Amino acid sequence: MDSFLIHGGNRLKGTIEISGSKNSALPILAATLMAEGKTTLRGVPRLSDIDSMIKLIAELGCRVYRHSSTPTVGDGPDLDGPLDIEVQDESNCEARYDIVKTMRASICVLGPMLAKRKKAIVSIPGGCAIGDRPVDLHVRGLQKLGAEFRTEGGNIVGEVRGRLKGCKMYLGGAQGPTVLGTINVMCAAALADGETVLVGAACEPEVVDCAEMLNKMGAKIKGQGTPEIRIEGVERLGGIEHQIIPDRIEAGTFMMAAAITNGELALKNCNLDHLTAVVDRLDEVGVKVMKHGGDVLVSSTRRLNPVEMTTQPFPGFPTDLQAQLMTLLCLADGMSVITERIFPDRFLHVGELNRMGARIRKEGPTAIIQGVKELQGATVMCSDLRASAALVLAGLVAKGTTKLDRVYHIDRGYEKIEAKLNAVGAEIERVKEQTRTVVPITVAA
Ligand code: EPZ
Repeated sequence: MDSFLIHGGNRLKGTIEISGSKNSALPILAATLMAEGKTTLRGVPRLSDIDSMIKLIAELGCRVYRHSSTPTVGDGPDLDGPLDIEVQDESNCEARYDIVKTMRASICVLGPMLAKRKKAIVSIPGGCAIGDRPVDLHVRGLQKLGAEFRTEGGNIVGEVRGRLKGCKMYLGGAQGPTVLGTINVMCAAALADGETVLVGAACEPEVVDCAEMLNKMGAKIKGQGTPEIRIEGVERLGGIEHQIIPDRIEAGTFMMAAAITNGELALKNCNLDHLTAVVDRLDEVGVKVMKHGGDVLVSSTRRLNPVEMTTQPFPGFPTDLQAQLMTLLCLADGMSVITERIFPDRFLHVGELNRMGARIRKEGPTAIIQGVKELQGATVMCSDLRASAALVLAGLVAKGTTKLDRVYHIDRGYEKIEAKLNAVGAEIERVKEQTRTVVPITVAA
C-alpha cells in the first residue's frame, strides 16, 4: 500500500486538465456488453476502478484493447488513448465476488446481461466505508421489466424468459433517486419489448452520458437529465464511438485545491453546467470561478466565509464533494454546517481532519465546522475515495508534512493526482510500499 508525503504550504498556480469521468465510464463500459460490433470509448481515465471494470467485462467475453496515448488534437481532450471493446463470447454470465468486492459499480453489468444474455449472476456487493449501499432498487426495477431473481450463495441470480417487457415504474427510494440503478434499468429497457417510463429517475450527467451513448448505439431514449426517462425498446444495439464527459468531481476537487491554497488554477476540459451548485457554494465562500475562453479559472480571496450546505441529488451539491468542501470550510472565518442527505454515514474524514487540527463536531447526518486559523501536518489514513481527496487538500495547506496512508483509495478515482498537483506547485511524494524483508529468528541453543 503506497503512501503520500505532502509538504504543505505551497500556493497552487497553473493549468490542470480534467480527465474523463470515472462514474460515467464505469456504467458505460458495462453497457458495451449489449453492443454488436466494436465500441470505441475516448476519455476513459486510467484508474484502478476502471481496470477492475475492464477485467470484469473481459471475463464476460469482451476483447478490450487500449490504444497508446495520443497528443491532444484540436479542442478534444485525449489524456489517454481510446479503448476498443468488442463482445466475442457471451457464454459466461457471472460477475465473481473477487471483482465485485473491490468495486461496487460491478452491479452495472446486471441490466445489460439480463437484456442481452437473458441470464446474470452477480455477487451481492457488501457494505462499504460510506455506509450501507443496497441494490434493492436495481433489482426491483429489473423485476418490473420481467426478470426473475433469486439469491444463491451470496449471488443475485437473474433470468429472463423470452424478452424483457417495457412498463411504467417508479424508481426512487427513501434517499431519493439512484444513479446506477437508473442506468442499470435504462440499459435493460433499451433492449426490452415496448415502452418503459422511468419515473423518479436520477438526473445526474453520468445518466445523460450513458443515455446518449445508448442512443448512438441505436437505442431510443428521451428525457435523460429529467426525472422521467422514456425508453422505446429496440431489437439490437450496435458498436459506436463515444467521448466520456469530463469528471465533474475531479474538477470540483481541484477547485477546492485552488481555493484552499489561495491559488489560481485554470481547468481544461471542465463543464461548468455540471457544477452549478458547487460554484454557487464556492461563490458564498469567496471563491471566484469563471469561464475564460475554453477554460475555467478558479481563484480565491484570502478570507473564506462560512456556509451551510446540504448534499442532494443532481442538480444539488454532490455527496462526492462533501468531504472536500468540509476541508475548505475548516479554514473559514466562522462556523459552517454540512448535512449529508445521500449517505448519512459518509463522515470518516471528520476524525482524520480533527487530528490535523480541525474543529468538527458530528451530530447525526450533520457536521458543524468551526473554522480554525491553520491545519497541521500529521499521519492520517485514507478510508474511502473522496475522504482521501479531502485529506490531500488538507495536506496541501497544512503546516509541515502530512503522511497519507493507504492511497490506493485515491488511485481508484483520481488519475495521476500527485503528478497533476505537483505540476502546479504542490509537493507530493509517493512512497512505494516496501517489500517486507523477513528477519531470521535466532533460536537460542
Ligand atoms: C453513484 O453511486 C456513484 N458511484 C457514487 O460515487 C455517488 O456517491 C452516488 O452515485 C450518489 O451520487 C458511481 O457512479 C460508480 P445511488 P450509486 O444509488 O449509484 C440508496 C464515488 O465516490 N439506494 O445513487 O451506487 C443509496 O443507499 C462514488 O465516486 C438504495 O436505497 O448511488 C443512497 O442512499 C461513491 N437502494 C441513495 O440511494 C438501491 O438499490 C443514492 O445512491 C440503490 C441506492
